[in-house]
Amino acid sequence: MPTRRAVLGGLGAVGTSVLAGSLSVPRAAPILPQAPQASGGTLHELELVADEHSGTRVPRAAEDAKLWLYNGELFHTLRIKRGDTIRAHLRNRLPEHTAIHWHGIRVPVEMDGVQYVTQPPVEPGEDFTYEFTPPDTGTFFFHSHCNSAEQIGRGLAGVLIVEGDEPEPFHAEHVLALKDWRLDEAGHWLPFSTNEGAGRAGTFGTVRTVNGVEAYAATTPASADIRVRVLNLDPTRMIDLGVEGAEAFVIATDGNAVEPFPLHTWRMGTAMRVDLHVRTPKAGQDFRLYNYFSPEPFLLARLTAEGPEQTQTRVVPRPLYASHAPKADISSAERKTFRFSAAAGAAASIAAEFPPDDPLARQLLDSLCAGNTGLWAINKAQWPTNGHRELPPPLALLEDGRSYVFELVNGTPHPHPIHLHGQTFEVLSASRQDLPRFQADTILVQPRERVEIAFVAARGSWMFHCHILEHQENGMMGWLRVS
Ligand code: C2O
Ligand code: CU
Repeated sequence: MPTRRAVLGGLGAVGTSVLAGSLSVPRAAPILPQAPQASGGTLHELELVADEHSGTRVPRAAEDAKLWLYNGELFHTLRIKRGDTIRAHLRNRLPEHTAIHWHGIRVPVEMDGVQYVTQPPVEPGEDFTYEFTPPDTGTFFFHSHCNSAEQIGRGLAGVLIVEGDEPEPFHAEHVLALKDWRLDEAGHWLPFSTNEGAGRAGTFGTVRTVNGVEAYAATTPASADIRVRVLNLDPTRMIDLGVEGAEAFVIATDGNAVEPFPLHTWRMGTAMRVDLHVRTPKAGQDFRLYNYFSPEPFLLARLTAEGPEQTQTRVVPRPLYASHAPKADISSAERKTFRFSAAAGAAASIAAEFPPDDPLARQLLDSLCAGNTGLWAINKAQWPTNGHRELPPPLALLEDGRSYVFELVNGTPHPHPIHLHGQTFEVLSASRQDLPRFQADTILVQPRERVEIAFVAARGSWMFHCHILEHQENGMMGWLRVS
């Protein structure tokens, strides 16, 4: 099978054409239906017990490769309707402190789950209650923000789906959570972080799963319009998502509706989500989801159609209701630039100067002591390597309710999926990707690329970081103060 990457040059290509390098050219705003008033209002009071479990739930893991999970499940899933309230009691039964960050949800800042910044860390044996009403529909997730490479590496992440964005219900829905696991041949944990990985594109998992299964397979209604929610919950892995054997459209990015466009491949860094509308094939046939990022396409999931035909009409892509996130006023927006680079120092210069696959870089990085220097920086500032206990000064001071355009400049040879807490932004332009206009909470900035995002700032202290967890933990993190 030819790799689509070769055909498309590795870009998330879409119909809208934007000249590479052209910044500040806002394209037409999408035309999406508006949602009716939220009708929810149900209170979901629940417990999330973070605890240690045997490795048996993950393929090839030995029993003593301990998993850290919420409620004993891989990717414990919460499903609510827009307008509903979540009251979640986190019970920390882990041997170290933790907290829950609700990724992509525009929560009040006290509920954002960042230890030392928005709340005290939840120590072993302690509890903490999160309560909020998600203002937006979509596909979200939640995860620990403490010792992230290890806690998420051991499985501490869940899925949060906020319903209410479908003008017409789909015939079926699938949720595909992608995450790899760092296991050795005997099924024991490999180190969750390595100098070699942290200084470059990250340390990759060895066992690749979807919903905790290798070669995930499921059945789905035949000749149907279905929704597939894909979440990249891996700490490191890049995904060029594509579908074979069915017509597929992108209908949402990070939970926000986009004007549907045909899926060729869509590039997802860690923490990014995409929702697809797929017209399934006839009964007995299947369609497959692949990751085309690697040299050989990697089969993620196979869905086999069965049962009676659901529709005979021609497929028409189905837009979701427009996002409720405020839209920035670009003309009055204040502009700020953030440069993502290697930090000053030995390890950092190795990371910056050697090409991604250079074996010498690997040797040099391996020869350094673990965690002795920061590797990465934002505007030359490094998040301190000893965690959040010593809060560095904010990267920027913003004004509540004001519109901002951030220019994100990647000065490194590695892609960085950059996440901003508490805000939904619009992606205005990207110098090396041909992208439609879309909304997101995490944007992949390609090597040496400039990307512009716009948003309306909401009050609080918000983290701003690369979501390759080893980059985040090795300096590429900061915070913004909005008051
Ligand atoms: Cu998904 Cu700061 O994190
Ligand atoms: Cu990064």
